[in-house]
Amino acid sequence: MDLKALIREIPDFPKPGISFKDITTLLSNPEGLNYTINTLAEKCGDLAPDLIVGMESRGFIFGAPLAYKMRVGFVPVRKPGKLPSAVHSIEYQLEYGTDRLEIHQDALHSGSRILIVDDLIATGGTAGATARLIQQTGCELVGCAFVIELKDLNGRQQLPKVPIITLVEY
Ligand code: PRP
Ligand code: MG
Repeated sequence: MDLKALIREIPDFPKPGISFKDITTLLSNPEGLNYTINTLAEKCGDLAPDLIVGMESRGFIFGAPLAYKMRVGFVPVRKPGKLPSAVHSIEYQLEYGTDRLEIHQDALHSGSRILIVDDLIATGGTAGATARLIQQTGCELVGCAFVIELKDLNGRQQLPKVPIITLVEY
């Protein structure tokens, strides 16, 4: 299936010169959504994760159905102040300033096999921080899966040496 044809490109959003990859047109297409989740599940099957970790918010959209399909649990990584119980948190660099991501301390157990899932990897800041957060908890990061990779930004360089699965590249 031609997933690129289902991903809408919006020029000059959110800033002039940026071509935004809009996944809402993929999500609203029944065959497109089904194919996306099934293909991710096939490609990630050999990694045999115990849990999928998805990042707020677009990582939830793909991570939770993928976890359901793979019959594993789903753990959210959230923006600061959203999780109610004790958290591990990690700060990471943005173009201007820093941001923080949090995960429940009791959601991960040492030795668990974790697959990170997000809609898109650009600079790799979000996924790289999530990978560090997971590794700090003593879990084993077994791979990272993204629907979209923006290759020119070299986001992969922010990730440890684990398998990286992507479906669409720009
Ligand atoms: C977007 C996207 C990825 C991240 C990729 O999320 O969903 O999570 O940026 O960029 P990076 O590789 O440069 O970190 P965003 O922070 O816009 O928030 P959202 O998922 O809540 O829309
Ligand atoms: Mg995101």
